Amino acid sequence: MSNSGASTRIDNFHNATGTDEEAVAHGNSIKSVYVYEAPVRIWHWINALAISVLAVTGYLIGSPLPTMPGEASANFLMGYIRFAHFAGAYLFAIGLLGRVYWAFAGNHHARELFTVPITQRAYWQEVLTMLKWYAFLAPRPGRYVGHNPVARFMMFFVFILTSVFMVLTGFAMYGEGLQAGSWADTLFGWVIPLLGQSQDVHTWHHLGMWVIIVFVITHIYSAIREDIMGRQSVVSTMISGYRTFKD
Ligand code: HEM
Ligand code: HEM
Repeated sequence: MSNSGASTRIDNFHNATGTDEEAVAHGNSIKSVYVYEAPVRIWHWINALAISVLAVTGYLIGSPLPTMPGEASANFLMGYIRFAHFAGAYLFAIGLLGRVYWAFAGNHHARELFTVPITQRAYWQEVLTMLKWYAFLAPRPGRYVGHNPVARFMMFFVFILTSVFMVLTGFAMYGEGLQAGSWADTLFGWVIPLLGQSQDVHTWHHLGMWVIIVFVITHIYSAIREDIMGRQSVVSTMISGYRTFKD
């Protein structure tokens, strides 16, 4: 298998030449491999922060707090909540663009997020193996230098695609606030008639939040579970960049 092939599982890495993966597969002499470069790691944690802010403020935009005491003019709570949502939104959208850039500029692990080898039979076999492992039906998981095949599928098809949807629907609604003819309306206004009318965009955008929340819950669960039960480091890899192997 090549680096860009079905997976970066190292147990059966046959023809990668001169890579850390090969050394690990053959000699087990390498204890750590540099996988996630600084831009990937910085993006990961900034993105996690932005999404936390977006989910909390987004929820409150959809289900606003009860009436505030005092004069209306003395309160700007929803204004601050919306401001935090929009600040988080810019961070999220620009971060996503930066991450796409790094897929071209970075190492081959930086591309894994966007290139799921769904046409390869071997990939699906590895997905099945990992699903069995997650379901406690297999005694041993694979060892992977980059993302494991199930993580890779979820990260692209659930997280990245929903993120693009959130940016499109979010900026379409933002364009309504900035008014017709604004840059956001010009670039994203077409999304509104595509989904029906403004309220439909709100509803779909709201639903997208729950898709992302479900992704985040399963993602954090499996990251911590793999860290404890899997054959390689996981959480510390997204902090230091290095993957270390237990066996
Ligand atoms: C992970 C990303 C995001 C999440 C989880 C999220 C979540 C939400 C939620 C739940 C709502 C309330 C919808 C409703 O019930 O009416 C909302 C509203 C909104 N979001 Fe997002 N959002 C995200 C990204 C974005 C982005 C990238 C933008 C781009 C500017 C954006 C702009 C807006 C706007 C303009 C509103 C409507 C505000 C209003 O009506 O006062 N969101 N968001
Ligand atoms: C809003 C919260 C989060 C989101 C949206 C998110 C999303 C992602 C994405 C998209 C990747 C792929 C990175 C890439 O290839 O560029 C990733 C990797 C990773 N994330 Fe998160 N993440 C979140 C929170 C967390 C938290 C709290 C942890 C720690 C417990 C964590 C641990 C990891 C690890 C360890 C990896 C690398 C997994 C591997 O090596 O296969 N993430 N995350």
